Amino acid sequence: MTPPNSFTALQVMQDAPVIPVIVLHDVAHAVPMARALVAGGLRMLEVTLRTPQALACIEAIAREVPEAVVGAGTVRTVADTVAAAGAGARFAVSPGYTPAVGKACRSEGLALLPGVATASEIMMAQDDGFTEMKFFPAVQSGGVGMLKAWSGPFFDIRFCPTGGITPQNAPEFLALPNVACVGGSWLVPANLLAQADWALVTELAKQTLYLRE
Ligand code: 3PG
Repeated sequence: MTPPNSFTALQVMQDAPVIPVIVLHDVAHAVPMARALVAGGLRMLEVTLRTPQALACIEAIAREVPEAVVGAGTVRTVADTVAAAGAGARFAVSPGYTPAVGKACRSEGLALLPGVATASEIMMAQDDGFTEMKFFPAVQSGGVGMLKAWSGPFFDIRFCPTGGITPQNAPEFLALPNVACVGGSWLVPANLLAQADWALVTELAKQTLYLRE
């Protein structure tokens, strides 16, 4: 059963055309950045566990930006899963899939978008009950052609392609029936964080709402 105050993976994917993939090195950036994205219409935010500050950033957003739904990205281990849930993450995204991470997300009440790049990985995640997955790294692993090929055997799986997605190629991905949303880091580039240019982050977020034709 889905615990209260949580989201299913499908809800996470269907909220907007893009899930921003965020790398934060400074906790002071977390709250204004999250507010800027929310102001631009994006509230599902993937903060990657790639920096020592990531968990504190998730905690700050969860505490201070109730309009945002913060998730943890780059979840690779059971320990990552437990730490992310403890920090207040409400969904998880992993670059690959292991049954241990799948099980830990279930017991922590976190919706998981498991990362897959091959048919066997899809089958493994599907065998564990997952029907929504991150296709990573999407462009490097075959992009739109791969998703079209998967739509035959994996007609019941929905994907969030991530890795190499840009505002230019996103519409082609979003037009596919088996793509629910895309993920990308272009919304929160390091230079905008460094300059604290929150207005431009909001503007980039607003532009994503028109990517689905
Ligand atoms: C990642 O997890 O690094 C994402 O796939 C982001 O990829 P991008 O920087 O190509 O958007």
